Amino acid sequence: EKTGLILAIESSCDETSAAVIKNGDTILSNIVASQIKSHMRFGGVVPEVASRHHVEQITQIVEASLEKARVTMEDIDAVAVTEGPGLVGSLLIGVSAAKALAFANSKPLIATNHIAGHIYANQLVQPLQFPLLALVVSGGHTELVYMPEDGVFETIGETRDDAAGEAYDKIGRVLGLPYPGGKVLDEMAHEGKETLNFPRAMLQEDNYDFSFSGLKSAVINTIHNARQKGDDIDPYDIAASFQAAVVEVLVAKTIRAAKEKPIKQLLLAGGVAANKGLREALRNAVAKELDEVELIIPPLSLCGDNAAMIGAAAYSQYQNQDFAQLSLNARPGLLL
Ligand code: KG4
Ligand code: ZN
Repeated sequence: EKTGLILAIESSCDETSAAVIKNGDTILSNIVASQIKSHMRFGGVVPEVASRHHVEQITQIVEASLEKARVTMEDIDAVAVTEGPGLVGSLLIGVSAAKALAFANSKPLIATNHIAGHIYANQLVQPLQFPLLALVVSGGHTELVYMPEDGVFETIGETRDDAAGEAYDKIGRVLGLPYPGGKVLDEMAHEGKETLNFPRAMLQEDNYDFSFSGLKSAVINTIHNARQKGDDIDPYDIAASFQAAVVEVLVAKTIRAAKEKPIKQLLLAGGVAANKGLREALRNAVAKELDEVELIIPPLSLCGDNAAMIGAAAYSQYQNQDFAQLSLNARPGLLL
């Protein structure tokens, strides 16, 4: 096996990030510049604003990541970058920067999938063992991915409408919480009680798909109706009731898939993997219902978007010499 020092760049949404990763499993640096403050007043990510911030930040972030890792471009074996999915303007900044760095320093270029990155974030915690199953839950994606071996992805189920994180953020907005609402709602859920029984969509259906838009509408209607009638509603109880519904469906479907597939490991991945309720419920369910399956949950620092996960995912591509051309373009709708 070739050892490799990978400089990785991630800019698919509203985080500008660069990392130096050794052998796909060791973080030498992982610098993440969040733009949340700039998007907050708009209540969501504004693509043009995001692109402009990426342009302003990218060079400094790459330099800072090399410096923190105490390496120079000469030491680097390959430059990896997120080619998609994501916002086209945001992706393009990272892709252009990576191409320039690869070309100027005569290094191979690796084009990496953002979702693969979220899954491989777990390789920075523990060596991956295949076959495995990953529950990917983020602002843009909710899917169950089966991996029979390294680098092979089978999406066995996905959301038919909203991603889990998207539902969190939209409910957060209706409750007047700062963007993104996911983290705040999670904290509120722990202060509230499950007083409302919201729908658990697709729970009984014989597939691995999800649906969160009905739940989202039910929660938002409850808030609007109460406001119209002048009823008191406790936003903490709303948060607790909503979170209970999301977590129950995510965990039940994941456990069912995990029982039906011959897996060694179960991985949690994506921004919503930071959710305390989900982490706890999945831990308990795995302990109770799955024998001999190892559960890996990334630390909070590796749940949201970051370049370390891209460097981890890029390592198997590096070993297979799966390199990209300098004509590489951003692919906003890239699938796994
Ligand atoms: O993976 P990520 O950083 O970006 C995408 O690729 O989408 O995920 C961001 C999403 C947002 O919707 C955010 O609200 C959600 O992850 N999120 C959470 C929590 N922390 C972040 N959702 C629920 N509970 C959390 N603690
Ligand atoms: Zn993401």
